[in-house]
This record gives sequence, structure tokens and C-alpha cells, in this order.
Amino acid sequence: MIALLIYSLLFCAFGSAVFVAYLLLSFTKYAGPEPGSPKEPVSVHVLVLGDIGRSPRMTYHALSIAKHGGKVNLIGYLETSPHPDVVNNSNITLTPLPTPPRRPPSVPFILFAPWKVLYQVYHLIYLLGRTLPPTQWILVQNPPTIPTLAIASLICRLRNSKLIIDWHNYGWTILAGTRGANHPLVALSKLYECYFGRLGHLHLTVTHAMARQLREPPYSITEPMLPVHDRPAAIFQPITSPSTREETLTRILSPPERDLIPAILSGATRLIVSSTSWTPDEDFSLLLDALVEYATTTTTTTTTTSPTAAAPPPLLAIITGKGPQKSHYLSRIAALTHAGRLPNVRITTAFLPFTDYAALLACADLGVCLHRSSSGVDLPMKVVDMFGAGLPVAAYAGYESFGELVREGENGVGFGAAGELAGVLVRLFAGVGGGGDGGKGGRGEGSGKTELEWLREGAVREGRRRWDEEWDSKVGMVLGLVS
Ligand SMILES: *[C@@H]1O[C@H](CO)[C@@H](O)[C@H](O)[C@H]1NC(C)=O
Ligand SMILES: *[C@@H]1O[C@H](CO)[C@@H](O)[C@H](O)[C@H]1NC(C)=O
Repeated sequence: MIALLIYSLLFCAFGSAVFVAYLLLSFTKYAGPEPGSPKEPVSVHVLVLGDIGRSPRMTYHALSIAKHGGKVNLIGYLETSPHPDVVNNSNITLTPLPTPPRRPPSVPFILFAPWKVLYQVYHLIYLLGRTLPPTQWILVQNPPTIPTLAIASLICRLRNSKLIIDWHNYGWTILAGTRGANHPLVALSKLYECYFGRLGHLHLTVTHAMARQLREPPYSITEPMLPVHDRPAAIFQPITSPSTREETLTRILSPPERDLIPAILSGATRLIVSSTSWTPDEDFSLLLDALVEYATTTTTTTTTTSPTAAAPPPLLAIITGKGPQKSHYLSRIAALTHAGRLPNVRITTAFLPFTDYAALLACADLGVCLHRSSSGVDLPMKVVDMFGAGLPVAAYAGYESFGELVREGENGVGFGAAGELAGVLVRLFAGVGGGGDGGKGGRGEGSGKTELEWLREGAVREGRRRWDEEWDSKVGMVLGLVS
């Protein structure tokens, strides 16, 4: 059995060596425009080793390049439907990668991972080296890091392209989060990422904090570095008219929740939205615990002569997203509801098309973000989208770059634990509690606004800053697409 395995691994290694050697002898190179010839359009391979439909940032890069007349091959997996503007764009070619094999539960990770990587190496080299013509630039998302960084830098070297690395996060910190910091592959992937990371000709980062970190050891990158903050796409817009809000909710909500629409519109029931990837690095139980606590909270109103106890307003929580732990949490939600521990809270899940998701955000009262940063220096795109839709957020705040996006008391509120989140929900929806009278909640006082209304204005302001301005003035200039 073991011998068979070793032989098959050797066979794979030998086979790929022959294949790579064959390719190396047959690559064509990017030659650039001939002197004196009319200007050729800028050409870019935009590569993500993930589902294109769930890679908004790479999608926006592709759309921005195309808008300024660049030619794009957008390369990745086709699992969910890509952004509608990408599909029929005359300057963008969608180039699907075959989906890699899934690990059968009986095969250990350490044996399966090399096989999956070989599979991806083969397809990437074939696609970037043979199927597609050479381009001026290859723009690659990191992470996933293995094997894309190595393959993209190899292809760039061989085909005379220049490499742009768009740093969303670090692959090794994510691996450390899922496999444990002491797993042998973590140290290896850190070395790999630091080595190949330095081969980029241009680096884009999602935060200033990340750009600072990449200049330092162990990364020690010296090439040009541009922090490009994520911004909401045009599809995320606030909805201000109550009738549009009603129509939108009627369209999106399924029948049992549709009954709640009048209460949502009058503010008697509050609508919160959270999108999660249902993975271990987003602790969904934190939101669930907070909702259980909210459901059993009573607030005391002291404005009348005799204090009266009241429950905070009922909540509808819509959780969107797909992911591995979804069914686990669905059964926990069902059990809690059955046990009567979520009396005035209804939790429902959905996986919505892009446009419906954007519309739902615009109809909600508060967005909740559970994103925990493995590197401490990335930012959750979903909060950016929420701001685009004019939706204030309550977001997990325990990482360095948090303040580059969410400004406490201005466009959102941070929390660190379930109890704190429950307190935030009670404070914002019932208008009481929190840090005592005149605490953080006192910001809107005097202007006659509630804290939630105040935060909503901040979110709308933040959401007005759009991707095009950010991108055109930074990346567009460097690529020579914008003058
Ligand atoms: C594609 O590029 C051309 C210039 O080559 C430009 O005029 C056009 O607007 C672009 N199309 C899209 C859909 O971005
Ligand atoms: C793309 O174009 C085809 C026909 O040219 C049309 O049938 C289709 O609906 C379009 N798709 C999108 C997403 O715009």
C-alpha cells in the first residue's frame, strides 16, 4: 500500500517534470508593442485560485481594467455565477479553471494536499503557458498562495510578463488557523510565501497596516507597494424610499418571513443581516449566543414615574452565505428555538443572488460582521458592501486594521464577545443600556437623532467613497490606463 503510494507520487513528480520541461521549450513571450506601431491595449491575466463569483475584489480589478480599455482574462473556478457585468463584457474573457478534486474523508490531509497541488500546478501551467497568449501583466490574488504565487512568477519570468500580487491576507496565517500553528506545512508555507512574495513587480494591499508589515521581515518586500482599500461596487446603494423598501423585502423574503414586513417597515421589528462563510475562523456561535442573550433581556424604562420592564424589539436575523459548518449551526438554531430560548428572535438563512443580497443590505437596520482576521491586517469586504448599502455595522473589533474601516460611534460599533454584541443590539434597538446614560450612545443626543440613525448617516457617508476613484488614481495610473 505504502509502496504503491510512493510509486504513484514519484510517477506524478516525474510526469510533471517532463511536462514542465516540454512547456519551457515551447513558451512564447510577451514582446510588447513594436517601436512606432499603434499603441496596443494593456493586457492582464487576472488570476484567483477560487470561485470567481465569490471573489469580488478580483472581479472589480477586472472590471476596472476593462473599463479603461485593457484586455482581461479572468481566470478562476466557475462555481457560483460571476458578477453580471463580467459575463457580457467585451474586454473580459472568462477562463475557467477545472475545479480541483475534493478530499475524501478517508484520505489524510498531508497525503491529499500534495496531490491537489500537483493537479492545480498542471492546469495552471497549461492554461497560463499554453492556452492563453502572453500578457503584459499577471495580477494574482494572494491567498490562496500555493501553488499560484510560484506558478505566476515562473510564467512571468518565462513569458516576459510583470507580476502584480494583490495581498488580501497571508496564506500561512490562514493555514495556521485551520491546522494549528505547529503544523509542519505552516512553517513551509510561510517560507514559500515570503520567498515568492518578493518576486512581484508591484504589490497591492487591502490596508495600510498590511503594506507596512510587508516592508518588514520576514517579507522584506522592496518593490512598489500600493494600499488599495476595498470599496463597494455600484450595485450596493442605499434605499431611502419606504415603498422601494417594501417592494424589495416582498421580493426577497420567503413566505413565512414576509408576514413580518409591516413590522419591519414600522420599526417594531428590527432586521439584522450577517453574511458568513460558515468556517471555523468566523465564530458564528458568538452571534448565536448574543441573540440568545438579547432574546432574554428585559430593559427597564425609567422615563415614567414607575419603572416598567420591557423586552427589546423583536428581531429577524437573516444569515447569508454558504459553508462547511452551516448544517451544524442550523440544527443548533432549531434546538434553541425549540427549547424556547429565542423567544422574540427569528433566525433564517439564505443564499441570495448578488443583486438581491445588495438590496437586502439596503433594507436592513444593522449589519453584523463576525470576521476574525488571521493576520490582524486584513479587512472584511462584507462591511465595505454594507457601507455601500448605507447600512451601519456591529463588527468584531479584535484586530489591528479594524479602525481603517469601522470608526466607532461614527459608522459602526465594535465588539469583542457575545455579551458585548448583545449589549450593542439592546442599546441600538431599545435605545437604552450600554455604557450608562450619556455614554457612547450619547453621540446623537441634542440633534434629536437616535444612535442608530446617527450611525446610518455615517455609513452612507462612508459608502459614498467608491472603488473607481480609489482604483483609477492608484492602480490605473501605474498600469498606464489612466493618465
Ligand atoms: C472595452 O474597451 C474599449 C476600448 O478598447 C472601450 O471603449 C470600451 O468601453 C470597453 N468596454 C467595456 C465594456 O468596458
Ligand atoms: C449576455 O448577452 C446575451 C446575448 O448577447 C444575453 O442573452 C444574456 O442575457 C446576457 N447576459 C447578461 C448577464 O447580461
